[in-house]
Amino acid sequence: MSFLAQRLSRIKPSPTIAVTAKAAELKAAGRDVIGLGAGEPDFDTPMHIQEAAIAAMKRGETRYTAVDGTPALKQAICAKFKRENGLDYKPNQITVGTGGKQVLYNALMATLDAGDEVIIPAPYWVSYPDIVALCDATPVAVNCPQNNGFKLRPEDLDAAITPKTKWLILNSPSNPTGAAYTADELRAIAAVLLKHPQVWVLTDDMYEHLVFDGFKFATIAQVEPRLYERTLTMNGVSKAYCMTGWRIGYGGGPAPLIKAIATLQSQSTSNPSSISQAAAVAALSGPMDFVPRHNAIFQQRRDLVVDMLNKAKGLFCPKPDGAFYVYPSCAGAIGRTTPQGKRVENDGDFVEYLLEAEGVAVVQGAAFGLSPHFRISYATSTEVLRDACTRIQRACAALE
Ligand SMILES: Cc1ncc(COP(=O)(O)O)c(C=O)c1O
Repeated sequence: MSFLAQRLSRIKPSPTIAVTAKAAELKAAGRDVIGLGAGEPDFDTPMHIQEAAIAAMKRGETRYTAVDGTPALKQAICAKFKRENGLDYKPNQITVGTGGKQVLYNALMATLDAGDEVIIPAPYWVSYPDIVALCDATPVAVNCPQNNGFKLRPEDLDAAITPKTKWLILNSPSNPTGAAYTADELRAIAAVLLKHPQVWVLTDDMYEHLVFDGFKFATIAQVEPRLYERTLTMNGVSKAYCMTGWRIGYGGGPAPLIKAIATLQSQSTSNPSSISQAAAVAALSGPMDFVPRHNAIFQQRRDLVVDMLNKAKGLFCPKPDGAFYVYPSCAGAIGRTTPQGKRVENDGDFVEYLLEAEGVAVVQGAAFGLSPHFRISYATSTEVLRDACTRIQRACAALE
């Protein structure tokens, strides 16, 4: 009998965290390495949010709170959903967790049984299939290739739904591709879901505010109110507010689901940090002038990276609408040979070659369920990005 539970054999450590750790390890050993694996903004948390946390500590808000969020934070979240998404949620329809990841984890853990299926458009955020597998359920990946804009087509969704389908996970703008759904595209997906009343939607709106070129963000419960009763609208402060380390995420959905999530959380982590919750109130209720400022910088970086990668031999890089990732194809590098005589068989070999030859750490597309691609996070300085892309161009040119 193995000491470790069988369910552990179904999952692997997060590959994006692994790449970041590998880059840090090589750097510590003295190698000149550029890490483009991390999924977090390189800006500091805005000062008014930091100050709200300090003020909360000084007021003595350092104790347990209600398990799934303080009344003040739930109010601020209700106001945010109304103001930004036109969605009406009451406080008993709101859950707050330790990052968006916990909200997602809790929702799936609270609803999935063995044999249930969850539809996950691929490429996907690495954690979705593993969390589904941890819940003894079955992740069903639906291919969304580059020529579909990396987006789920309604007919492919329809074909993937079975009587066992419990959830569809949507993520827009997407990690890893940056692709984002327009309101019309969401409406077409909703039309399919209306035919299948047993399917719920978990929409991961974590990158809502990170959109470019005037793209208009939309979320599914807003564009199709008939899905409101079976949608969990998940969001958080990690990305837009540069608060990845504070660990606050939240969701809005039907009260019975929210209550089940609270029960689960009461027997696992209890409340998220009281101090972070106070900071999140300030984030959601305060000024947002830093968002367009950050986005202008992200957009410039995106344009630089897309332009430089499209000049690299064997690469093709579409221009995404949002988030801070690009997901170029390295199809033109597959089958070629490195100067060391190794044949590049797949995107895993390609990213290994980039790291070994030029010290650029990126994540292979296989980790996100669509190959041959790789993900670059451009949440780092323009100089570093220029250097990294020059190295990638050099590595690609050296392949025979
Ligand atoms: C698509 C997506 N959803 C959820 C999360 C988790 O966010 P948090 O840090 O709030 O747990 C991430 C973080 O990388 C993400 O990229």
